[in-house]
Amino acid sequence: MPYGFGIIGCGMIANFHAKAIADTKGGKLVACFDSFPAAAEKLAATYGIKAYAKLDDMLADPKVQVVTIGTPSGAHMEPAVAAAKAGKHVIVEKPLEITLKRCDAIIDACEKAGVKLATIFPSRFHSSSRAIRRAVEKNRFGKLTLGDAYVKWYRKQEYYDAGKWRGTWELDGGGALMNQAIHSVDLLTWLMGPVVEIRAQWATLAHERIAVEDVAVATIRFANGALGTIEATTAAFPGYLKRIEIHGSQGSATMEEEDIVKWDFAKADKKDDGAVAESMASKKSTGGGAADPTAIGHHGHALQFQDLLDAVKKGKSPAVDGREGRRSVEIILAIYKAAESGKPVMLPLEKDPPLEARKRKTGK
Ligand SMILES: NC(=O)c1ccc[n+]([C@@H]2O[C@H](COP(=O)([O-])OP(=O)(O)OC[C@H]3O[C@@H](n4cnc5c(N)ncnc54)[C@H](O)[C@@H]3O)[C@@H](O)[C@H]2O)c1
Repeated sequence: MPYGFGIIGCGMIANFHAKAIADTKGGKLVACFDSFPAAAEKLAATYGIKAYAKLDDMLADPKVQVVTIGTPSGAHMEPAVAAAKAGKHVIVEKPLEITLKRCDAIIDACEKAGVKLATIFPSRFHSSSRAIRRAVEKNRFGKLTLGDAYVKWYRKQEYYDAGKWRGTWELDGGGALMNQAIHSVDLLTWLMGPVVEIRAQWATLAHERIAVEDVAVATIRFANGALGTIEATTAAFPGYLKRIEIHGSQGSATMEEEDIVKWDFAKADKKDDGAVAESMASKKSTGGGAADPTAIGHHGHALQFQDLLDAVKKGKSPAVDGREGRRSVEIILAIYKAAESGKPVMLPLEKDPPLEARKRKTGK
């Protein structure tokens, strides 16, 4: 019997979830719920599934064993905790939540209920990021020296105007960093290791009616001593592919969206170098949401949903569990704090940093 999936939050990303579930082995989409019933009904009609008008009713349905959550970022916690308490495995869109306290509430609820929890970061499943991670694990970079994430994207004003929650501290939890660049922040710390110190600045420069940043820059120090930068914006017309650059005393690699575009090591590794050379010759060149949030594929989501099903079947932890999902939220909150205080911020954070910026309203 396939595992039944229910989708909570039937907006833009829900369609990607539906297609990704269809691509899994052993998963089947059976139901959905949205606080705006017409959205659930539309998704249900498209995929031939049941639309629920009440979340509790969907969570009482024994045919639903896994839920995916695609509600606005600051509204992930309530349905995630309710689903865990109902004994469902939980997959939550990025960011896991917008404060550490709310992330922890989800992690605790899932641990107490004994259900699996995954945070969606499809980039971790791409062969390119896995190749770089393997090179890190094999020590091919030598001493890691520099790790950079550049997300120079573009969002039209209409993108923010179209959703009341977008660009707000209450539900988006931040801007170019918390919403868009978080995928790259996650990859950077996955590849370079934990971050221990951050200095930063942010600004709102090219959009109206948003309370959050559309440009942010941070310099970081990793636990292994390496330094790095994060640059994130939704105000760089026309929007370029995001890049991750990893450097060390013995090697360098650069990823542009899903493609490896630079791969240079002092010592050869026939197997890995051959596979990377092959992938470099057949670039995927996906837009990756650089200028259009809908210009993404669902392949990474499908791999991640498969990973969750495998974790359920084998009784192991999903590759990107709740604690992994929390890491990028902590780094981004530390960037906001460093920018606001003008002082370096050390990690790990003991608790959520108070942010004056949260008082800023969009006027929407
Ligand atoms: N992984 C990715 O590449 C990716 C891409 C886009 C969005 N996202 C994430 O997905 C989430 C949703 O983004 P979106 O662009 O689909 O937003 P959206 O506004 O298009 O959709 C959100 C939906 O949630 C519904 N909703 C709001 N509050 C709810 C609640 N309490 N219970 C049930 N339904 C509720 C809304 O009615 C709406 O239909 C965000 O967290 C975002 O960061 C991830």
